[in-house]
Amino acid sequence: MAKKIGVLTSGGDAPGMNAAVRAVCRTALQRGMEVVGIERGYNGLLNGEIVEMNARTVSGIIQRGGTCLYTARCPEFKTKEGVAKGAEKCREIGLDGIVVIGGDGSFRGAADLSSMGIPCIGLPGTIDNDISCTEYTIGYDTAMNTAMEMIDKIKDTAQSHDRCSVVEVMGRNAGYIAVNVGVAVGAEAVITPEKDYDLDAICTKIQNTMKSGKNHFVVVVAEGVGKTDEITKIISEKTGVETRATILGHVQRGGSPTVRDRVVATQMGHHAVELLEKGIGNRVVGMKDNHVYDVDIQEALSMKKPFEEELYGILNETAF
Ligand code: ADP
Ligand code: F6P
Repeated sequence: MAKKIGVLTSGGDAPGMNAAVRAVCRTALQRGMEVVGIERGYNGLLNGEIVEMNARTVSGIIQRGGTCLYTARCPEFKTKEGVAKGAEKCREIGLDGIVVIGGDGSFRGAADLSSMGIPCIGLPGTIDNDISCTEYTIGYDTAMNTAMEMIDKIKDTAQSHDRCSVVEVMGRNAGYIAVNVGVAVGAEAVITPEKDYDLDAICTKIQNTMKSGKNHFVVVVAEGVGKTDEITKIISEKTGVETRATILGHVQRGGSPTVRDRVVATQMGHHAVELLEKGIGNRVVGMKDNHVYDVDIQEALSMKKPFEEELYGILNETAF
């Protein structure tokens, strides 16, 4: 039975992380445990950046983007010595477990710490939705809505100038944001790292669409493709349509979380504490068939997430 637990956020921040921190803190207090916040991810654990938490520490954060615990990337934690130092720190502080909110990299650290006797629970927090063991990651919905709103605005000006806009959305290695946002904005094409693409076919589609009277276009490119400028240049040259690139960037990581992100973060944070309360560690909390569940971290890291083939097909059939 855990008596004192810690919570940290690690890797890239995501809207809804605060809601998860709040849920962890309040659930733990409700169940009679002590809670501390560990600032700046594993860095803060190694450096002893520990803050006591009470019910009021997490007041007024559910609606805020970013993470009140700050986040960081900590190369030292990828070493055996770093993890051993982290486990020693946990013992010094008297921690019986840690909730780690982050992505796959953060879960690897959580697995290592669990293997050194500190039970850790991973919560999926990343805008990319690229964590295989879960249908949904905290931050995804907010990021998609932000990207959609930004592209709607870009469309206004593209339409006024008869231009094609190539918009790069985030997604380090994944096209989930790109495909969903592409459908939501009615993009003519979406280019993602998971699928081969044919720029000639995209240009022909644009030219055929022009014959039906349309003179403005949107092409969404996932960051992971890594060729936004090149794609923009080729579309411009092949179609003769003035084509501009916009990289949305970090705007997608900020902002007030949507209902979905706040609710899922709260459910997952609550579930994580229930596991630690029972002394269970080395698990990742995820969503399966729209329900919160948990899975062994190693198993979670070995899973493969399917690409949204059906949605990608629908997009290509409906945008012209
Ligand atoms: P994310 O958690 O979003 O995937 P990173 O890959 O940057 O982000 O990982 C966040 C942090 O998790 C790293 O800075 C490091 O401290 C820790 N981490 C990543 N990979 C490992 C690993 N293989 N072993 C231990 N800790 C790791
Ligand atoms: O994983 C989330 C994410 O925003 C990716 O989409 C992006 O590639 C990466 O983080 C960028 O991270 P940073 O700008 O913090 O280095």
